[in-house]
Amino acid sequence: MALRTALWTVMTGAAQKAARALKRDFGEVEQLQVSQKGPSDFVSAADIKAEKVLREELTKARPRFGFLLEEGGEVASADGHHRWIIDPIDGTTNFLHGIPHFAISIGLEMDGEIIAGLVFNPIVDEMYYAEKGKGAFLNDKRLRVSARTRLTDSVIATGIPFHGRPGHKPFLKQLERVMDSVAGVRRMGTASLDLAYVAAGRYDGFWEMGLQPWDMAAGILLVKEAGGFITELDGGKNLLGSGNVLAANPKLHKQLLDLISAV
Ligand code: IPD
Repeated sequence: MALRTALWTVMTGAAQKAARALKRDFGEVEQLQVSQKGPSDFVSAADIKAEKVLREELTKARPRFGFLLEEGGEVASADGHHRWIIDPIDGTTNFLHGIPHFAISIGLEMDGEIIAGLVFNPIVDEMYYAEKGKGAFLNDKRLRVSARTRLTDSVIATGIPFHGRPGHKPFLKQLERVMDSVAGVRRMGTASLDLAYVAAGRYDGFWEMGLQPWDMAAGILLVKEAGGFITELDGGKNLLGSGNVLAANPKLHKQLLDLISAV
C-alpha cells in the first residue's frame, strides 16, 4: 500500500534531489578518510549544500511556509501556520567517518503540531514517510511498531551524550538499568533513523536526552502513525521543547518509562 498525496510529492521530491548530491559527497568522504586533516570542512560544505537544495525545493512548492533549519536557523512563515523542521544530514558523525547510516529528516509543523514527516537514508534507499491520520510507510510498505511484550526479548536503541554535552552520569545510570533488563542495546548515531526503526518494528524502543527539534520532528510522527507511544523521559509531552525522548511500542513504553524515569 502506498501513500501518494500532494505533500508526499513535494517532500519526497525535495529529499530525492538533495540526496543525489549527498550520495556523491559521501563517496568523496570515504576517500578522504586517509587524509590527515580528514573530511570535516568538506562535510560542513555538503551539509550546507543539501540544506540549500531542500530549502529551495520546498519554498518553490510552498512559498508561504517558514523553516527551522539545523544550519540556517529560523525563517518566519508568511502564512503564520506552517514551518518545515529540517536536518540535511542527521548522523553527521557517521557521514564524516564514511559510515553509511545517516538521513535527511524533514518534519512539517502546522500550528505547533507535526503533520508530516520524512526520514530518508539514501544509501540503502529507505524512505520513511508519515502524514497525520494517514499512517507511516517505508517506501510502499505500511509500518507497524513491534508486538513484543517482554523487555527481555527487546532490542532498545539509545543515543550517548558525547563530548561537550551534559548528562553523562544520568545516562550511565539509565543504561545500567536498561541493559540489565533487555536482550540488547544499540547506538547507531542517527536519531531520526532510530525513531524510524521503532516505527518499523526493528527496534522495540529508543531513548535519548538533549536532542534538537530537527533530529526528531519527523521521527515523532513516524512512531505515532505506526502505533507507537512517544513521550519525554518522565512521560511529559513537550518533546520538541526538552529534547528528551522515549519511544516504544505500547506494551513496552510504560515498562521502559518506569526503568528510565526512576533515575
Ligand atoms: C545527532 C544524531 C545522533 C544523536 C545526537 C544528534 P546530527 O544529530 O541524531 O544520533 O545521538 O544527539 O545531535 O548532529 O548528526 O545532526
